Amino acid sequence: MQIQTERLVLRPFILSDANFILDLLNEPSFIQNIGDRGVRTLSDAEKYLENGTISSYAKNGFGLLAVTLNETGEAIGMCGLIKREALEDVDIGYAFLPKFWSKGYAFESAQAVMKQAKENFRLRRVVAIVDPANEGSIRVLEKLGMSFEKMVKLSKDDIDLKLFSISL
Ligand SMILES: CC(C)(COP(=O)(O)OP(=O)(O)OC[C@H]1O[C@@H](n2cnc3c(N)ncnc32)[C@H](O)[C@@H]1OP(=O)(O)O)[C@@H](O)C(=O)NCCC(=O)NCCS
Repeated sequence: MQIQTERLVLRPFILSDANFILDLLNEPSFIQNIGDRGVRTLSDAEKYLENGTISSYAKNGFGLLAVTLNETGEAIGMCGLIKREALEDVDIGYAFLPKFWSKGYAFESAQAVMKQAKENFRLRRVVAIVDPANEGSIRVLEKLGMSFEKMVKLSKDDIDLKLFSISL
C-alpha cells in the first residue's frame, strides 16, 4: 500500500503514529473542516487508529495513509481512500498540519492516491465531500479534475456538504 512521490512517502499508519494523530486531529483546522473526533489522549488516538484507519486496511484493502516527507520520514498529514456507510462510493480524504500547507503536498499526495485507486484498486469512480466554505480543499479537488455534483448530508443533523466526483 506504500506510495512514493517526488517529495513524499505515503505509508500505512501504525499504532506508534498515535502522537501525530493526537496533534493532527486536534488542529483547529481539522476540527473546523472535518469534525471533532473526540481524540484527546494518546490512548484515544491509538483506539482511533486501531478501530478506524488500520481496520479499514483489512476490511477494504485501502484506507487513510500517513503522508511523510521523503527526506526525513517526518509525518506531515494523512491522505487516502475511505469507505463510509453514509456514501455509496469510495471517497478521498486528506488533512495536513498547518506548517506544511501551501507547498503542494495535498495535491501531490491526493494525485498519487487517485492513481492507486484506478490502477491498484480498479475503482471506476471516486467522490469527495467538503464543507462549502473550505476553499483550499475545493481547489485541491478541482486540481485533481473532480467536479461538483450535488449537495449531500452525511447524517440528518449534519451541515450540507458539497459532493465532488470523478470517473477514473
Ligand atoms: C485543505 C488542505 C488539505 C490544503 O492543503 P495544501 O497542502 O495547502 O494544498 P496544496 O498546497 O496542495 O494546494 C493545492 C491548491 O490549492 C490552493 N489552496 C490551498 N489552500 C488554499 C486556500 N486556503 N485558499 C485558496 N486556495 C488554496 C493552492 O494554492 C493550490 O492551488 P494552485 O496550485 O493553483 O496554487 C489543508 O489546508 C488542510 O489540511 N486543511 C485542514 C483539513 C482539511 O480541510 N481537509 C480537507 C477536508 S475536505
